[in-house]
Amino acid sequence: MNYIEEQIISIGKIRIENHLTNIGIEMVKKEIIKGLYAPEKYISSKFFYNETGSKLFEQITQLDEYYPTRTEKSILSTFVNDADIDFQNVSIIELGSGDSSKIKLLLKQISPVQLKSIRYFPVDISQSTILKSSLELIKEFDLKSITGIVADFILQLKVLPKTGRRLFCFFGSTIGNLTKTEQHAFISALGDEMQSGDGFLLGMDRVKDISVLENAYNDKKGVTAAFNKNILNVVNTLCDANFNTDDFEHLAFYNKAENRIEMYLKALKEMDITINSVFDTIHLNKGEKIHTENSHKFTDKDVKAIEEYGNFNLKNIFTDKNKWFNLLYFTKK
Ligand SMILES: C[S@@+](CC[C@H](N)C(=O)[O-])C[C@H]1O[C@@H](n2cnc3c(N)ncnc32)[C@H](O)[C@@H]1O
Repeated sequence: MNYIEEQIISIGKIRIENHLTNIGIEMVKKEIIKGLYAPEKYISSKFFYNETGSKLFEQITQLDEYYPTRTEKSILSTFVNDADIDFQNVSIIELGSGDSSKIKLLLKQISPVQLKSIRYFPVDISQSTILKSSLELIKEFDLKSITGIVADFILQLKVLPKTGRRLFCFFGSTIGNLTKTEQHAFISALGDEMQSGDGFLLGMDRVKDISVLENAYNDKKGVTAAFNKNILNVVNTLCDANFNTDDFEHLAFYNKAENRIEMYLKALKEMDITINSVFDTIHLNKGEKIHTENSHKFTDKDVKAIEEYGNFNLKNIFTDKNKWFNLLYFTKK
């Protein structure tokens, strides 16, 4: 998360642009401090993804309990034949691209001639992840180019490339990290950015048995707990704060009324946290929680709402044998 250093990296067919400096570190500090002073404390889940956080997330995706990645990948590895998508000369823009392992499954199903005509734009808040995954991807696929966009896709949709026919991809059910209101605002803003004929591939985790859901976010090895606690290290770095991760415990449970997993860090003792640029300390009582993530699960009604908010046509719904996950293909009207 490089909010400070302006940088363009250029290596062969790869170019990486950092747009986070246009947001700037002062704005980020304000956003985090506002959440920590709120009556119900929160930190946005986008702050999970420093280098360590991105690595921990990759480990989560390989856990036995964490069914979403496996399930979405099983759909992604075979869907292309059944989807009516023209890949010739398309610009693929992947929001929250992470390790780019999902786009690889899609690219594996495309002919070498078409691959050569494709421009790939991974968009992520984590610059280290974009660089690593782009270097890996170009070794495996002879694409026309890779342009990594280090940006906040909520605040900076406007920096996405506008030329040519575009296929937007948003995998991993990352949309579920937004509140319902934010989801609708985001989809509507994305729809406004898109032109008629542009496509949108969206991965969505579905409502299912509560024990399956709760196990996925409470793994036995404690990787999700480590991932959750690491957000405090990110806050320490960005805000010059002094959280100690050992003073917190990981908490994740399903909120049935909201159809979402909620993740928190619960204070194991009373404490005062210092933030260098803030005059006052932040006080936490023993047992007080900091909300770090929502992971909404979706129903058919939600799919309809996305189609309407984006002004999209829903072309295909791909799913797995358990109907646990949906890969949706929309086009812009
Ligand atoms: C849940 S992970 C999913 C990663 C990958 N798409 C997958 O399906 O495995 C979310 C990804 O989105 C990125 N991300 C989260 N919030 C973001 C934001 N506001 N702007 C840009 N990237 C963001 C994270 O760095 C991370 O790589």
